[in-house]
Order: sequence, then C-alpha cells, then structure tokens
Amino acid sequence: HRLAVFASGNGSNFEAIAAACADGRLDARVVLLVCDRPGAYVCERAARLGVETFAFRPKDYVSKEAYEQDIVRMLDERGVELVCLAGYMRILSRVMLDAYGGRIVNIHPSLLPAFKGAHAIRDAFEYGVKVYGVTVHYVNDELDGGKIIAQRAFDYTGADVQELEAMVHAVEHPLYVEAIAGLLAGRNR
Ligand code: GRF
Repeated sequence: HRLAVFASGNGSNFEAIAAACADGRLDARVVLLVCDRPGAYVCERAARLGVETFAFRPKDYVSKEAYEQDIVRMLDERGVELVCLAGYMRILSRVMLDAYGGRIVNIHPSLLPAFKGAHAIRDAFEYGVKVYGVTVHYVNDELDGGKIIAQRAFDYTGADVQELEAMVHAVEHPLYVEAIAGLLAGRNR
C-alpha cells in the first residue's frame, strides 16, 4: 500500500508510521511527506529515512486551493491510497477533500468530540480532565469533526503537563499504526 503523511512540526507520528512500514507492522510504504513548513524537524526525519518530501511555503501560492492542486497531482502520480495527517496544522480545502475524501485520516490528542483544536492536551489539562486519550478519525470539512476510527483512553491525575504530553504521544504512535493497519486490511470502515 502507498501512504502519504502530512505534517507541520516535530514528526514523531510520521516516524512511527515510517518505522512500522520498515519493520513490517504495516504492509505499506510512505511514498511522500507533505510539509507546509520547510524548516520543520519532520523534514530532517524524512531525509534520514529516505522518504521523498514536498515541503512548501503556503505564502508562495495565491491560495490554499492552488497548493492543494499541486499536492493532489503528486498524490495521484504516486498512486497514494491513504493520506495520514500527523500534526498537519491546516484545514483542508475542497480540493483535497473532493479528490481524497474518505481516504484521509488524522490523529488528535484528545477523546473527541471533547477538546477539538490545536491545544487539546493543554485545554483538557486546564479543564481538570482525569481520563485522557487519543483519537484517530476520518477528515471532513469540520475541524477534528470526521467519523471516529479508533480511540484509546488512559487515566492521569498528576499535575505535570509535560509528563502528560509524553504519555499522550506514547499512546498515539501505536494507536495510529494499528488504525492504519486496520484500514489497509479493510477493517474499521
Ligand atoms: C500530535 O499530538 C497529534 O495528535 C497532533 O499533533 C501532534 C503531532 O506530533 N495532531 P508529532 O509532530 O507527530 O510529533
């Protein structure tokens, strides 16, 4: 199977997916990393792992639709079957959704539908949440709004947000890999 990963920052989920492809947990290959921040650490990870990267500056394009048209062309050319958003900090336009809708998934660091948005871990922590979790979901035109594919919850009653963040990421990596494996095998639909 041929995957694309979209990321904007650190890229630990990108690397977890690429590692699972390399060691056979996923019967797949990451054929393209799409990154909207050319200096992001995820681009270094991709270079180290030999994953082709399209890094672009949105400001170099007249519109979101314009750069997404370039992305769709690259996905089409490479025969991408599933697009995995992994810390991609942009909302997709109709261009991506019309071309790949139903084949785009995202990982979000909360138990959706609670705590949508870019600061989910901090928001949940400040709310005083005691049961945290991670969600893998389909992407539609609502922010963090698509149908849920997989979730995993864990208890945390400590007061250290950095410790909590590390726990969230440790849950994310295997959950995302397992959810992708299920999708590729035709489960979870
Ligand atoms: C993850 O917490 C993911 O749930 C959220 O963005 C973060 C990306 O982390 N959507 P990384 O770049 O994969 O390390």
